[in-house]
Amino acid sequence: MTYDTIILGAGAAGLMCAAHCVGRVLVIDHAKAPGEKIRISGGGRCNFTNMYAGSGNFLSQNPHFCKSALARYTQWDFIEMVGRHDIAWHEKTLGQLFCDGSSKQIIQMLLDEIERAGAELWVRTEMKDLRKTDTGFALTVEREGQRHALTCTNLVLATGGKSIPKMGATGLAYDIAHQFGLRMTETRAALVPFTFSDGRFKDLSGVSLPTRLSNDRTSFDEALLFTHRGLSGPAALQLSSYWREGEAIRVNLIQDMPLFDLLRDQRQNSGRKALTTELSRQLPARLVDFLSQHIPMQGNLADQSDTALSDLVEALSNWHLTPSGTEGYRTAEVTLGGIDTDDLSSKTMEARDVPGLYAIGEAVDVTGWLGGYNFQWAWSSGHAAGTAI
Ligand code: FDA
Repeated sequence: MTYDTIILGAGAAGLMCAAHCVGRVLVIDHAKAPGEKIRISGGGRCNFTNMYAGSGNFLSQNPHFCKSALARYTQWDFIEMVGRHDIAWHEKTLGQLFCDGSSKQIIQMLLDEIERAGAELWVRTEMKDLRKTDTGFALTVEREGQRHALTCTNLVLATGGKSIPKMGATGLAYDIAHQFGLRMTETRAALVPFTFSDGRFKDLSGVSLPTRLSNDRTSFDEALLFTHRGLSGPAALQLSSYWREGEAIRVNLIQDMPLFDLLRDQRQNSGRKALTTELSRQLPARLVDFLSQHIPMQGNLADQSDTALSDLVEALSNWHLTPSGTEGYRTAEVTLGGIDTDDLSSKTMEARDVPGLYAIGEAVDVTGWLGGYNFQWAWSSGHAAGTAI
């Protein structure tokens, strides 16, 4: 069978690409259903984009690469598509847009779009062999126990990254990129919880509070969640993308709270109150109890000198921790790194030296922050390749 375009991967980027391609198009996926990550995303409501998405929200060895695709298919274009399909949505926080109903609506929208474009979709299909021909590519695939020989002029790599192998993530796009001589940047699990091998936070498991989490490169003001195994929540996931093994991270538990003034006033008004009791009005009581085992907090407010209060504020706003590692690809929301953008056109996503080969979505070395940015990259890069083909 001969196609103009074969797209490997029926995830966010692959489906978006198929919706914009002309000609005879086939989308292939080894999973039993398309868009499985869309289905589970955003707690089942899919954080499908971010109102503030811009190139500054993405990590890549070449921070300029994503600009062209993001500018030519913006969050507003996707919101328009969502509106056209009568999908109700809301902003949760920080520009993050979610479906009011279910993430399945986004999958159905993309399936309707590819049907309108006339593309075929084969799920439960494994790629067995791939080679270059004079006019394009020849593939052998296996579907329902039957082998099929396929040829195409354009081949789009949209099989995503390595995160969550249990959901069908494989390194296929990387292997094919390697086969055709495209370079790779180092890949790492990102948007992933930090672990501490000594289980030091197990008594705090479930405690969550707004924090500023930072390292020498960046900082995020978001919620931090203590878990049995370490630190999670948006702040930890965000910082994990900027973290390297062995590095310390800094936790500011009080952000911009004027804690020193607050404690000094309370010392004046309620000096006989225990310091920990007053602190528990500002921070979760379990956290104060935990911290009191590590930071001096004995006595009443009246016992505290200005220096003691200022030392306490410093300790709470600059808590240094060194994670042992992260949960890795098992739970990571994305893979940092991937197919080197130097080998791709930022306008079309086509490989510079392999005409007809395209790479889009998470497989490429463009990784978004938490908050709808990764899907926006999938939509924008899928659109860039689809309209170029
Ligand atoms: P994606 O992974 O979506 O699709 C790849 C497809 O290729 C899959 O269908 C897979 O089955 C198929 N495939 C893989 N290997 C294959 C092979 N060997 N043969 C055939 N097919 C193969 N982002 C965001 O912006 N908002 C959010 O709310 C969330 N939430 C979220 C939750 C969780 C739990 C995870 C794990 C991730 C998110 N993300 C997210 C990230 C987001 O899901 C991700 O960045 C995009 O799905 C990437 O889209 P792609 O199409 O590139 O890959």
